[in-house]
Amino acid sequence: MARHVVLVGLMGSGKTTVGHRLAARLDRHFVDADAALEEIADRTIAEIFEQDGEAAFRDLEADTFEELLEHHEPCVIAGGGGLVLRSDNRVRLMRRDVTVVFLDASPRFLASRVEGRTHRPLLHGEEPAGAVLSRLHAQRAPLYAEVADITVDVEPFHERGDEPRRSLADRVAVLVLAHEAEVAV
Ligand code: S3P
Repeated sequence: MARHVVLVGLMGSGKTTVGHRLAARLDRHFVDADAALEEIADRTIAEIFEQDGEAAFRDLEADTFEELLEHHEPCVIAGGGGLVLRSDNRVRLMRRDVTVVFLDASPRFLASRVEGRTHRPLLHGEEPAGAVLSRLHAQRAPLYAEVADITVDVEPFHERGDEPRRSLADRVAVLVLAHEAEVAV
């Protein structure tokens, strides 16, 4: 039974870049949930946060995710970092036909990855990115763990290789196929 794969994890963990490559390995469509939401809303995430606030963004995020899961062909979805905050999303992530991969990393590493990027409203308040990511990591790690079928620490891939995202995608593809085979039995 081929199924949807959803990548979860904090901002900077590499969900989108790894997701692209993973989809190619698994021969499935790739969908970036944030990009899909922006297309549906016809506004950027930054605009939605600014004009309507975070709660309105979370409603749109949940609606978009529900819509994406109904996609009839199995696909690889890169979820936004806060997807796990809502219990209705977590229930969907725990569905049997959804394989969830948690890309984990330390707040320090994540802060180095998001440096200089400007499109994430949660990282543009007074608080430094490292402090925001530490807080979010403490708050969300248990939620990611609750829904994850597979957890991968991304840091060793970055420390080791010259093509970390490619080797990460290779590793995740092996783990996903093994998980799907196990669940199908
Ligand atoms: C968010 C993460 C972002 C985006 C929004 C909120 C979060 O997605 O959904 O800015 O709450 O962590 P990425 O994790 O893809 O950057």
